[in-house]
Amino acid sequence: MNKFYQSIARHYDHIFPLSDGLKKFLYTFGITNTDHILDIGCATGEVVFYLAPYAQSVTGIDLDPDLIEIARSKKNERGRKNVAFFVRDMSDIDNVFIPDQFRIVLCLGNTLVHLLSRDTINNFLGKVSNILSGNGMFIFQILNYEKILEQRTRELPLIDNDKIIFRRSYDHDTQKPLLVFDTSLTVKASSETINNSITLYPLRQEELIQMSNRHLYRSIQFYGGFDGRAFNAQHDLLIGVWQK
Ligand SMILES: C[S@@+](CC[C@H](N)C(=O)[O-])C[C@H]1O[C@@H](n2cnc3c(N)ncnc32)[C@H](O)[C@@H]1O
Repeated sequence: MNKFYQSIARHYDHIFPLSDGLKKFLYTFGITNTDHILDIGCATGEVVFYLAPYAQSVTGIDLDPDLIEIARSKKNERGRKNVAFFVRDMSDIDNVFIPDQFRIVLCLGNTLVHLLSRDTINNFLGKVSNILSGNGMFIFQILNYEKILEQRTRELPLIDNDKIIFRRSYDHDTQKPLLVFDTSLTVKASSETINNSITLYPLRQEELIQMSNRHLYRSIQFYGGFDGRAFNAQHDLLIGVWQK
């Protein structure tokens, strides 16, 4: 397994804290205490904990055992009973969950592009539909890779706060058609620097539309931000809200 997330797990919440924009966006889905929710690629579980008071249950899965361990320790600290965390590969959800189990499945923060081929992503979208209940919703968010590919974007904006500096860049050439995502994390308290790299599939809206089999999803919507603006080519985010 790639150690990318393992090496930054302890610092994850300082790099990617849960944003108010995402909270407001998720709140609009009218979650109630009969809903079962799954967060795929849950990292340290912040989205899971945010949704738990509204839902019947929220489950988080992630491939990285260190991130799941942090999420589980938060569960103990916060005394939340209706959450559960498992180390699982998102490609295995069909073996782990049962048909119609969840009203909402989430896959946020660019998790989807860790599946490295069109076929794997297409299969995954079918598996998600299968574990959704009737009228259930799949909500995912990636970056706008059409724009990143067209503009050959190299640097992503620097993340610099009181705890860390996180530099991120894309290498477009070494593993074409995949992107290599190179990062460098500096921890301010210790001056430690952690360099890392992981390969991503630059998934575009057009491909997603082709994969959105109408037997699996009867409605597909795309947004360009968590404020609910309709997606266009200039936006940095690509958010999908697909209804079974
Ligand atoms: C960029 S992070 C996003 C995490 C979180 N959803 C967020 O928005 O902050 C991507 C996450 O996907 C997880 N991940 C990568 N490949 C995975 C896989 N095959 N199955 C499950 N999780 C995976 C990583 O461990 C990491 O926690």
